[in-house]
Amino acid sequence: MGLDIQQAYSIADLREIAQQKLPKGLFEFMDRGTEDELALKRNRAAFERICLRPRVLVDVSGRKLQCKFAGRESAMPLAVAPTGAAGLLSFDGEIAIARAAAKLGIPFTLSTASFTPMERVAEEAGGRLWFQLYMWPDRAMSYQLVDRVKAAGYEALIVTVDTAVTPNREYNRKNGFTLPMKITRKNAIDVAKHPEWFFKVFLRYLLRSGIPTLENYPKEYRQRLSEKRPGHQSGLPKSDSVSWDDLRELRKRWKGTLMVKGILHPADAQVALECGVDAIVVSNHGGRNLDSSIAPIDALPEIVATVNGRVDVFMDSGIQRGSDIFKAIALGAKAVFAGRAPLWGVSAAGEGGAYKALDILREELDRIMGFTGCVTLDDINQSLLWFEQHSSRAES
Ligand SMILES: Cc1cc2nc3c(=O)[nH]c(=O)nc-3n(C[C@H](O)[C@H](O)[C@H](O)COP(=O)(O)O)c2cc1C
Repeated sequence: MGLDIQQAYSIADLREIAQQKLPKGLFEFMDRGTEDELALKRNRAAFERICLRPRVLVDVSGRKLQCKFAGRESAMPLAVAPTGAAGLLSFDGEIAIARAAAKLGIPFTLSTASFTPMERVAEEAGGRLWFQLYMWPDRAMSYQLVDRVKAAGYEALIVTVDTAVTPNREYNRKNGFTLPMKITRKNAIDVAKHPEWFFKVFLRYLLRSGIPTLENYPKEYRQRLSEKRPGHQSGLPKSDSVSWDDLRELRKRWKGTLMVKGILHPADAQVALECGVDAIVVSNHGGRNLDSSIAPIDALPEIVATVNGRVDVFMDSGIQRGSDIFKAIALGAKAVFAGRAPLWGVSAAGEGGAYKALDILREELDRIMGFTGCVTLDDINQSLLWFEQHSSRAES
């Protein structure tokens, strides 16, 4: 017998439950990194190297996590990152996570590659909604999508720029995990070992509308996806021609909050500012794309210095504890995004599990602030951090 949701006290516990519930191919699609998973490990290791130097005997009884970012109030410095898989992990998983985020008073980002149409999420979830955009080679189709986002009332557009080419996720191929899901002997056995997921998620989709698909994609792309040869990782349209000119054009077309996600180099932060973005998200896609990439928490200080307060800087990749949020804020992030944490939660127990994941992070951040003498987020600063030496180069 494994853990159940009542016994989950940490994000790691939720991950353990998710692993019990989901077919291996699906769990690994959500959980793992790319190639040798160096970036995935580095994202965590970089947080772990940062220690806290607490201040004591401060009256912290009036602690507050409220803050303002991307132009609006939020209950805490956290937003839900866009993740294409949520709808497969739990029935209507995107709506479940969006509702959990709304209850906690933080923004939810819907991915271009989601399984629920953006209009349904807007109708059924409420709360602060952001939409993440992957630019397609057919720009006209992308602009049509942006018009839909606007009509559906989304507050912000996040353009992801770190996926110019298809990531090399070898385990997906080994597991026979493709989009849309295809039934092969191997994954049929995997699914048979996880009947709860089959009956509570997959079968419900089959009975309602057939095999789940990327609902925000134009018909033409969806068709192409289903024609993909088995064994190939992704039939998504290629984005390798997207450039800064596209970001400039989007700035002209989208009058709401515009963010660019996947910045790791300060020079790119500078160009993004010149393109007129309202926020920069320092991210390596949770270690899922470029395996040798720097950890975002390590890239953050130089980017914050470059931006110099002109727009909000956010970060993601590796957030699994409230102390991680604290460290990012101390290094200049306005807020952080969590990707896998709410996914593990929604896999474990639907909306309640997603709520639990986000609430664990809230509670942990509150506790760390209490321990370190911080009453508001403005009290969190770099003097409270201490960096362990970590490489022979740093030691020499
Ligand atoms: C299963 C999964 C699917 C993702 N899909 C997208 C996506 O569609 N668009 C995007 O910009 N980022 C996507 N991401 C990256 C997240 O937005 C985010 O950058 C990352 O998960 C943060 O790292 P964390 O999972 O360690 O919190 C995905 C991440 C995961 C785990």
